[in-house]
Amino acid sequence: MFIFAPINNILKFTLHHTDPKSKARAGTMVTDHGVIETPIFMPVGTVASVKSVHQRELKEDINPDIILGNTYHLFLRPKTEILKKAGGLHKFMGWDRNILTDSGGYQVYSLSGNRKIKEEGVKFKSHIDGTTHLFTPENVMEIQRVIGADIIMAFDECTPYPCDYRYAERSMHMTHRWLERCITHLKKTPFEYDYSQAFFPIVQGSTYTDLRKRSAEYIAGVGAEGNAIGGLSVGEPAEEMYAMTEVVCEILPEDKPRYLMGVGTPINILENIALGIDMFDCVMPTRNARNGMLFTAHGTINIKNKKWEDDFSPVDEMGITFVDLEYSKAYLRHLFVAKEYLGKQIATIHNLGFYLWLVREARKHILAGDFTEWKDRMVKQMDKRL
Ligand code: GUN
Repeated sequence: MFIFAPINNILKFTLHHTDPKSKARAGTMVTDHGVIETPIFMPVGTVASVKSVHQRELKEDINPDIILGNTYHLFLRPKTEILKKAGGLHKFMGWDRNILTDSGGYQVYSLSGNRKIKEEGVKFKSHIDGTTHLFTPENVMEIQRVIGADIIMAFDECTPYPCDYRYAERSMHMTHRWLERCITHLKKTPFEYDYSQAFFPIVQGSTYTDLRKRSAEYIAGVGAEGNAIGGLSVGEPAEEMYAMTEVVCEILPEDKPRYLMGVGTPINILENIALGIDMFDCVMPTRNARNGMLFTAHGTINIKNKKWEDDFSPVDEMGITFVDLEYSKAYLRHLFVAKEYLGKQIATIHNLGFYLWLVREARKHILAGDFTEWKDRMVKQMDKRL
């Protein structure tokens, strides 16, 4: 077994309360860029921007403790050299709170047809200009040092769904071998800036219980400061996702944060919090907002529908962010029909505000001891199309 002695004790995770009727936990993580209250949803800022949201709105109205960036996209544009000259991603984008970067393990695999996976790494063609590049566990660690996120991710292979057993097993072992290479290389690669970086490995194993158990045992044995679960929310039924999360959470250490990558709908988030997940990210609130889909506590809205044409009630009576009460549904629908940029902006602020509200409420209810009752009520309520 490869043991990962943490380079520093960088990330301090404290568990405050566990729900008596589920595995839901409320905690805090502390890094050099501040405190992160968990459970947390991390808005996705792929290319050094949470699409269509100014930093002031992000900080003041949505107020996440942490956002996510992507190694693949940042490596291609603006490129590592520019980020180094800027003094890292925080300075480049004007964000002084926490950032987590995904390793590119997911993005390169979604370039199906334009990439080749080998033991050495992944050769891929840029979606921007067709140039060929090679990602290896070693250079991905170096790139993430230069980007300078507070939490950096191991280079892994995210298997598709469905995935045959033999492929999933071979891929899982390769992800484990890549993990050893990531760690060996990280130990030789100092921090680029005057703050530290925590490192999370990723559990794989597709939808096979025995593989998930083996991967979780391997990852737990590494002793990293936090652990992630990948390869889910790739088209499998929600029940299979929950089954895999449950198996893995039973094995991953309790005293370390658990991050479920790329998940999900508001209902997926609450169900996975109940299974012991602390961190989430997903493009859904931002991407779906740009297509006119709004998430609310009472169900989802397609704001482009004709039924909203003369509905002058607020976007969302709950008024979580300023856009919810400032604008009406009819006005927002008009902006979408007229293809005005402002429509996408309003919908994005609303959706991110709602996702952050949801995880904060979850935290409150975990601390108050009535999470399960609240979660069951919310899941029923949100499972509607308005
Ligand atoms: N984002 C969503 N799923 C995954 C995954 O399996 N691996 C990585 N690196 N990122 C992800």
